[in-house]
Amino acid sequence: MFRYAAFVSLLAVGIVFQLSHGVEVNVRDKDENLCLYAKLMVNFSVSYEAADNKSATAEFELPADVTTVGSTCELNTSSTLKLNFGNGHSWSVNFTNAGKVYQADTVTFSYNLGDKTTFPNAASNESKTVAVKPKITDVAVDTCYSCQSKDTLESDLVNQTLWNVLIQAFVSNNSTSENYTTCAADTPTTPVAPTTHPTSLPTTAPVTNATTPTAPPTTTPTPTLPPPTTGKYSFKPDENTTACLMANFGLRISYKQEEMNFDPNGTSVSGSCGVNSSELVLVSTQQMTIKLTFTNDTKKFRLHALNITGKTSAGVAFSEANTNLSMWQAAVGSSYMCNKEQNYTITNQLTIYTFALQVQPFGVKKGAFSTAEECFLDSDLSFLVPIAVGVALSFLIILVLISYLIGRRKSRTGYQSV
Ligand SMILES: *[C@@H]1O[C@H](CO)[C@@H](O)[C@H](O)[C@H]1NC(C)=O
Ligand SMILES: *[C@@H]1O[C@H](CO)[C@@H](O)[C@H](O)[C@H]1NC(C)=O
Ligand SMILES: *[C@@H]1O[C@H](CO)[C@@H](O)[C@H](O)[C@H]1NC(C)=O
Ligand SMILES: *[C@@H]1O[C@H](CO)[C@@H](O)[C@H](O)[C@H]1NC(C)=O
Ligand SMILES: *[C@@H]1O[C@H](CO)[C@@H](O)[C@H](O)[C@H]1NC(C)=O
Ligand SMILES: *[C@@H]1O[C@H](CO)[C@@H](O)[C@H](O)[C@H]1NC(C)=O
Ligand SMILES: *[C@@H]1O[C@H](CO)[C@@H](O)[C@H](O)[C@H]1NC(C)=O
Ligand SMILES: *[C@@H]1O[C@H](CO)[C@@H](O)[C@H](O)[C@H]1NC(C)=O
Ligand SMILES: *[C@@H]1O[C@H](CO)[C@@H](O)[C@H](O)[C@H]1NC(C)=O
Ligand SMILES: *[C@@H]1O[C@H](CO)[C@@H](O)[C@H](O)[C@H]1NC(C)=O
Ligand SMILES: *[C@@H]1O[C@H](CO)[C@@H](O)[C@H](O)[C@H]1NC(C)=O
Ligand SMILES: *[C@@H]1O[C@H](CO)[C@@H](O)[C@H](O)[C@H]1NC(C)=O
Repeated sequence: MFRYAAFVSLLAVGIVFQLSHGVEVNVRDKDENLCLYAKLMVNFSVSYEAADNKSATAEFELPADVTTVGSTCELNTSSTLKLNFGNGHSWSVNFTNAGKVYQADTVTFSYNLGDKTTFPNAASNESKTVAVKPKITDVAVDTCYSCQSKDTLESDLVNQTLWNVLIQAFVSNNSTSENYTTCAADTPTTPVAPTTHPTSLPTTAPVTNATTPTAPPTTTPTPTLPPPTTGKYSFKPDENTTACLMANFGLRISYKQEEMNFDPNGTSVSGSCGVNSSELVLVSTQQMTIKLTFTNDTKKFRLHALNITGKTSAGVAFSEANTNLSMWQAAVGSSYMCNKEQNYTITNQLTIYTFALQVQPFGVKKGAFSTAEECFLDSDLSFLVPIAVGVALSFLIILVLISYLIGRRKSRTGYQSV
């Protein structure tokens, strides 16, 4: 019985990584299994009463130096992330599991006005607590909740701005999920990587001018990436011949939660041209390598394999490949073209977006693209016009035919009645 109770009420032990910005924590249950993971940044703006009866505002960040004492994981039903920092402050969020989804119920922020470094001149020494409801709902179980955008939680005296949030509650199998539930603010485009922020609580008291209104935290959505520059790539087997493989496109790749544009400027091109297979290798100055393998089978070509290696803005190297694709298909001797933006899922983690695409991997003549076969999206609905005309014409013919038949029958009955 006691054993069972001990099993249910898991004691959570936390491991804290100190990041250059933001905070990253792993909370483990008493069996040392990872049960809650969080990486996030929080800015606080706290309005308090200063000694001279004036209202003051303190602004500070959640420092990297936190402890997770008080965090709990109850067997897949509820859990709490508690981050203690500075001189008696804490920030916590509790999660409940509803089977298929989980959510954060409350964010509780306790701050100690006795910390005169953070709250200079505060009239009182007491600790205050505010509770707000975050917008972290309907997170699919076994996925990480991800929200790079800023989200400000407002209450009477405290504004909390959360951003670069990555949280997984109810972690199973001891490892965080590679699948994400992304907040609405992050879609359709995911923002670029975080910029660096100073993280520790200010050691010297900020001179807060009590009468000067402080700028409220902004909640502007992160800007969308500009369309990528269209690169014009061609591969010649040697100096004296004309190109045997040509490709023009603007390329954006989306790896995990990050989107990046492929910069054609300074990109080196290599490759090979064969009868059954051709290859184009692009190495950009931003150290991204893209290998495209085309095959020619039975007079049609297609992009068969794609291998992209690169680094995220955070410096994490990745390599994603799919060798079983059937993209960009057209007849050998023609080129494939798609001007409209297209997206293709290459792997679970990687999606590519192409812009102003034209490619010809086989049978290039005189260094120019042959007739293009356009993708479906490029063709607008104008092809419906001849069909409509045809349908209208057939209708007319049928109408004439029917009236002719009726006319004949009428005239016939006319003869009979006489
Ligand atoms: C919180 O944000 C609101 C709206 O931006 C602002 O009016 C208010 O002054 C802010 N409060 C604090 C304590 O910063
Ligand atoms: C502060 O305000 C309270 C009531 O609001 C008043 O009794 C007190 O005298 C004021 N103190 C100062 C220093 O103005
Ligand atoms: C958070 O606070 C730091 C310092 O107080 C400031 O530099 C930064 O711009 C703030 N970030 C946001 C998103 O408000
Ligand atoms: C707050 O604490 C400091 C030092 O502990 C003390 O000097 C001060 O009088 C206290 N202020 C109030 C309002 O209790
Ligand atoms: C991600 O989700 C897909 C489909 O829902 C699933 O097949 C896959 O196993 C998941 N991957 C991880 C790492 O959970
Ligand atoms: C606040 O700033 C104004 C002008 O910038 C100054 O005149 C005033 O003395 C300052 N007040 C405090 C409490 O620092
Ligand atoms: C390229 O062509 C020129 C003239 O046609 C010739 O002189 C030269 O040797 C060729 N170079 C190569 C590498 O074939
Ligand atoms: C390409 O890069 C070079 C050197 O970085 C720069 O001078 C040039 O303007 C760039 N060209 C374009 C089209 O961006
Ligand atoms: C494509 O493959 C066919 C045989 O499958 C071959 O006859 C044809 O020459 C190839 N085309 C090119 C341009 O290599
Ligand atoms: C290309 O494929 C055809 C049919 O699959 C095969 O007969 C031919 O030998 C291949 N050519 C080369 C150069 O691999
Ligand atoms: C993709 O390219 C990288 C680097 O060239 C290589 O290490 C990796 O094995 C390739 N992946 C596949 C599936 O070919
Ligand atoms: C991908 O393309 C399809 C149409 O081809 C579109 O409906 C969808 O919204 C696109 N997805 C993204 C993430 O752009």
